[in-house]
Amino acid sequence: MIVAMAENRVIGRDNELIWHIPEDLKRFKTLTMGKPVIMGRKTFDSIMARLGKPLPGRVNIVISRKNPQYTGALTCQNLDEALDQARKTGSDEIFIIGGAQIYAQAMNEHLADRLYVTHVVGQPEGDAFFPELDMKMWAEESREDHGTYSFVTLSRRPST
Ligand SMILES: NC(=O)c1ccc[n+]([C@@H]2O[C@H](COP(=O)([O-])OP(=O)(O)OC[C@H]3O[C@@H](n4cnc5c(N)ncnc54)[C@H](OP(=O)(O)O)[C@@H]3O)[C@@H](O)[C@H]2O)c1
Repeated sequence: MIVAMAENRVIGRDNELIWHIPEDLKRFKTLTMGKPVIMGRKTFDSIMARLGKPLPGRVNIVISRKNPQYTGALTCQNLDEALDQARKTGSDEIFIIGGAQIYAQAMNEHLADRLYVTHVVGQPEGDAFFPELDMKMWAEESREDHGTYSFVTLSRRPST
C-alpha cells in the first residue's frame, strides 16, 4: 500500500488530497510507474478530476460495486478480483493506492506486505482516514525526514 497521511491519519477531504507536496507526488510516480495500481472508485474519480485521465504508464484497476466502464482503466467488483487482474500483469509489485475504504479492507485482510507511508506533519480536518497501524505487525525498513514530511517504508514482520 502507498499512502500520505497526517498525524491524525487524515488522508483526504471532499474526495481530494489535502496537501500539495510535489516531492511526494514524484515519489508516488517513481514507485508505482509500470506497476498495477488498485483503487476505490472515489479515488479514481478524484484522479480523473485532477488529471483528466487515469494514471499514465500503470494498469489502473478500479473497484466498484456498480460495474462502471472507463476508458483506460479496468473495473473489478471487489479487492480479490482486482488482485487477480493485477497478478495477471506479471508485475513483481502491486500497489493499493486508496482510498480509506480500500485501505481498511486491505489492512483487515492482511493483504499488504509493505507500506510506503508519507507522514505529513499536522492535524488537518478531513473525512477520510488511514487505518490505525499496529506496530507489532510492521517493521520500519527505511525513513527519510524532510522537515514537514517523512518518507517511511514499513515491511510486515514475519508470521503476522
Ligand atoms: N492521501 C492519500 O495517500 C490518499 C490516497 C488515495 C485516496 N485518498 C483520499 O481518500 C478519499 C477517498 O476515499 P474513500 O474511502 O472515500 O473512497 P475509495 O476507497 O477511494 O472508494 C470507495 C468506493 O470503492 C468501491 N468499493 C469499496 N469497497 C468495495 C467493495 N468491497 N466491493 C466493491 N466496491 C467497493 C465503492 O464504489 P461504488 O460506489 O462505485 O460502488 C465505494 O464507493 C479521497 O479524499 C481521496 O483524496 C488519499
